[in-house]
Amino acid sequence: MIQRPRGTRDFLPDEMEKRRHYEGILRDTAKTFGFREIATPIFEESELFILRSGPNVLKELYAFMDKGDREIALRPEMTAPAIRMFVNEMSNEPKPIKIFYFGQCFRYERPQSGRYREFFQFGAELIGNPNAESDAEIIAMAASMIKALGLHDYKIRIGHIGVLRKRIADAGVPKERTAEVLQKLDKKLYDEARPLLKEMDVSDADIDSIFTLTETVGDVSVLSQVEGEAGDYLRQLVDLLDAMGVRDVEIDLGVVRGLDYYTGMVFEAEAPSLGAEKQICGGGSYTLSELFGGEKVFSTGFAVGFDRILLAMEKEGQTYTPKGIDAYVLCVNDDVRRKASEIVSMLRANGVCADIDIMGRKMQKALKYASSVNAKYAVIVGPKELEEGCVTLRDMSSGDQRNVKIGELSSCFRC
Ligand code: HAM
Repeated sequence: MIQRPRGTRDFLPDEMEKRRHYEGILRDTAKTFGFREIATPIFEESELFILRSGPNVLKELYAFMDKGDREIALRPEMTAPAIRMFVNEMSNEPKPIKIFYFGQCFRYERPQSGRYREFFQFGAELIGNPNAESDAEIIAMAASMIKALGLHDYKIRIGHIGVLRKRIADAGVPKERTAEVLQKLDKKLYDEARPLLKEMDVSDADIDSIFTLTETVGDVSVLSQVEGEAGDYLRQLVDLLDAMGVRDVEIDLGVVRGLDYYTGMVFEAEAPSLGAEKQICGGGSYTLSELFGGEKVFSTGFAVGFDRILLAMEKEGQTYTPKGIDAYVLCVNDDVRRKASEIVSMLRANGVCADIDIMGRKMQKALKYASSVNAKYAVIVGPKELEEGCVTLRDMSSGDQRNVKIGELSSCFRC
């Protein structure tokens, strides 16, 4: 038997129906915020991700040479492709541009619960303005999505990577080594960050001040410890979010993010029930367009880890019941099969989700199958009823049966 690759999953019909249902909720929420859907290729030239994703993503890249000797990579995320698309195709469109996407991403990670090599992101990018209103739109939409999915136990933490970058630069870390330091701070690996910073001749006092900054967590009052414009910016952002009804947020200047392109506000949402892989959403503001050959345009965005948020909902006991089908058409004997095919086609043409017995089963076995596929009704086609232009409609949950004229059958499924 051939097994599927490590870190990937198969989705069976019930699971797929559930995923499509929740995906639909995310899509509907994005639309209420004025975002429109895009799609980009699953693979891109590797360079797109090498340019600015940072060391974390690079070592996890699924990259290969294609038959034309091009360096290709499966997308590890969708922000870089979305901005490439914007530079190639949309740069002259009126700003802001509000786009969203859903699809699979690939990272060569060590698989565990909530961490896969192929996973799904639902993300959005707002391209156009480096202001607090843009960031507020993005965070408010992420919060709305989490709420709309019905998750209860989660936390949204907002930070500012500019503040941390400045503190690191002021401490004397060379620009080209900032990503290395941020990578350790992102994972809170202070024991590894200290020798690394010392190797760069950073004083103990500066190291302590960097670590203290990353431990600054609380309500807006902690912003009194932030000098410069960033503090004012975050205060304005939190105030806007308050106006938008988003109040369950926390300031955390230790939000670093695993990707390297962020420049200003950064945020993450976590579901504590998930343990180690608890981050269900992450994002922030960045500029990438000039790197891909366009003009410098400010953007902000986020991506929800779709698989993780579903896991968190499951942990909270949320269940989804598959809808099943409206009608299962079965035959009392072989003489009525042609008529049964006619009836199922009529139902389908009228928008009823209908299936028909194609296994030639006897009534009882066919009814058993109908309940296994969650059919709401069985449509029993028999010679006696047909003589009067009728079929028998059986309610599968109560077992109640009644005769219905074939011409009126479709209307029985309209509620
Ligand atoms: P990210 O934090 O790398 O950000 O990924 C977003 C989310 O994808 C994470 O919060 C997590 O829930 C989920 N995720 C990441 N890796 C895995 C994995 N191996 N298995 C399952 N889920 C995973 C980005 O990708 C940015 N592009 C977000 C963004 C959009 N920033 C600005 N715009």
